[in-house]
Amino acid sequence: SLVSLRQLLDHAAEHGYGVPAFNVNNMEQIQSIMQAAHEVDSPVIVQASAGARSYAGEPFLRHLILAAIEQYPHIPIVMHQDHGASPAVCQRSIRSGFSSVMMDGSLKEDMKTPSTYEYNVDVTSRVVDMAHAVGVSVEGELGCLGSLESGMAGEEDGSGAEGKLSHDQLLTDPEQAADFVKKTKVDALAIAIGTSHGAYKFSRPPTGDILAIERIKEIHKRIPDTHLVMHGSSSVPQDWLKIIHEFGGDIGETYGVPVEEIQEGIKHGVRKVNIDTDLRLAITGAIRRSLAKNPKNFDPRKFLKDSVQAGKDICKARYEAFGSAGKA
Ligand code: G3H
Ligand code: 13P
Ligand code: NA
Ligand code: ZN
Repeated sequence: SLVSLRQLLDHAAEHGYGVPAFNVNNMEQIQSIMQAAHEVDSPVIVQASAGARSYAGEPFLRHLILAAIEQYPHIPIVMHQDHGASPAVCQRSIRSGFSSVMMDGSLKEDMKTPSTYEYNVDVTSRVVDMAHAVGVSVEGELGCLGSLESGMAGEEDGSGAEGKLSHDQLLTDPEQAADFVKKTKVDALAIAIGTSHGAYKFSRPPTGDILAIERIKEIHKRIPDTHLVMHGSSSVPQDWLKIIHEFGGDIGETYGVPVEEIQEGIKHGVRKVNIDTDLRLAITGAIRRSLAKNPKNFDPRKFLKDSVQAGKDICKARYEAFGSAGKA
């Protein structure tokens, strides 16, 4: 059944677990997410970005999630809008039936340039007023996501974004977080703690202490009733990178956030863990391998089915590692 983010994360906080939030763009992805959740009995957060909306179209995307709710009535599902660029975008998602929206006011409406604190408070409060009136939850973001290693915001192709961010911008300030939550009344807050979006997070194998755990602790102490959200939480599985490379792909050497680091975050108030890249890598690897190994096949169901299985394995592993398995 459809639940709000607040409902699910209150339960997660009470029982000390985290919930992966997987991005969805097509039927195969939602099948991976739901089949895995069904097998391990986990609640689910599915999130759709603006990119997903323009890829699938709003009605198809909405009905994909409604289909999941219909087929798995016993599983609590949050239908979340990822990275809303403006109150208008969030309003459209609320009208579509989403039970949770993210207003990302850490960036201007272009979603590239860092905004001012005042702008962020203003747009986020407006969304909270709209959303709470109809029982929808709101996630805000404070601080700019970026790798502490490189100072780069992270880009899909590894080319680097708008230039280097300062150490200050890369870590959310606990006092400002307290003020932000007091002013906006968000249910969940995405914090900058050293992660970045995409596959190119770290150029060397992580040796622990990748995340600013001390900072997470300080923020959690200041705002214990606000659920913390970690974006850019893909682990960039090396086995899938190897398979992609073996079957003609070229992603290059790169590393993500180790699952153990995320588990450490969950001990200190992280409740929603955003993952997109890991599913992209697993799907790409599975399809490359399936096509290479079955050169005569031209039934897309064959390689798409292999991709569902690959995605499902990742989802299952994350439900289990974050402790949401068995909590549906
Ligand atoms: O935060 C970004 C997510 O990975 C979604 O990516 O905007 O390409 O759908 P997208
Ligand atoms: P990854 O790119 O690490 O999967 O992060 C996804 C994300 O934060 C979506 O909002
Ligand atoms: Na989000
Ligand atoms: Zn994100």
